[in-house]
Amino acid sequence: MKKDLLSLLDLEKDDFEHLFTRAIQLKERYAKGILDKLLTGKTLGLIFDKKSTRTRVAFETAMIQLGGHPIYMSAQDTQISRNEPAKDTARVLSRYIDCLAMRTFDHALVEEFAKSSTIPVINALTDSFHPCQILSDIMTVIEHKGGYKNVKIAWVGDGNNVVNSWINAASVLGLDLVVACPDNYQVNPHIVEAALEKGKTHIEFTNDPRQAVKDADVVYTDVWASMGDEDELSKRIIAFKGFQVNKALLSHAKDDALVMHCLPAHRGEEIAEDVLEDKNSVFWDQAENKRHMHKAILESLILRK
Ligand code: CP
Ligand code: NVA
Repeated sequence: MKKDLLSLLDLEKDDFEHLFTRAIQLKERYAKGILDKLLTGKTLGLIFDKKSTRTRVAFETAMIQLGGHPIYMSAQDTQISRNEPAKDTARVLSRYIDCLAMRTFDHALVEEFAKSSTIPVINALTDSFHPCQILSDIMTVIEHKGGYKNVKIAWVGDGNNVVNSWINAASVLGLDLVVACPDNYQVNPHIVEAALEKGKTHIEFTNDPRQAVKDADVVYTDVWASMGDEDELSKRIIAFKGFQVNKALLSHAKDDALVMHCLPAHRGEEIAEDVLEDKNSVFWDQAENKRHMHKAILESLILRK
């Protein structure tokens, strides 16, 4: 039976642990010059309907470094844009490639691809979730904090796809997560219900960023207007007043708190320039770890390890 990675609720705790251990191991081996050609002869297709720098390049380089081949397809350049049904495209691609990574708007589309494909389908971001991002981000937390237990994670910002995946991870791993979003930009209650059904964790929600970051070990933020929401930016800049991650807000977190952002960042909006440019920041480690985590994900789905 093939496995997909559409949401972190698809994973059990052991799957998370395996991916963290394996990604860290592959990172160490790569640093020593060991080339693990685990996916020789395998092909990864990438269908992207939204822009990407990190996720696309991290998947492509991961595949190449593992000895395989990536094929990038802008959705616009395929017959999908001329209304070929997803189920037909999925069945055809399953005859050519070994795995498909998809970035699109509607999460139902990746679900449809997964249902109609005989190959693993990976969600490379939808309006609802960004699972691979949070896997590599927790890997970064493990590297810098020695683990994720007893690590207080504060989300400050929009109730978007990235925090939805944090909520999913929190429910499976029992993370200590506090989510602060402005009124009207809170997390969709269905996301919270589904996550809490799967796990037994307690996730706290507030509209007060100071309360969220109080004694936090990790402070995480993301853009106020995600891809597809850009038209609302000026309205959101007003609604998100007080939600900028800056030195004043961080003074309420632990002194050694990690500040994290999936990037791309909007300086002067969700994050202050001096926080982003701090020489001890881990944003660039987060970005790098996407490549190592993607290798672990590809190995586990393509070789069913
Ligand atoms: N963090 C992230 O997914 O970045 P891209 O949009 O550049 O892929
Ligand atoms: N929430 C952002 C994440 C980008 C990586 C977006 O969806 O645009």
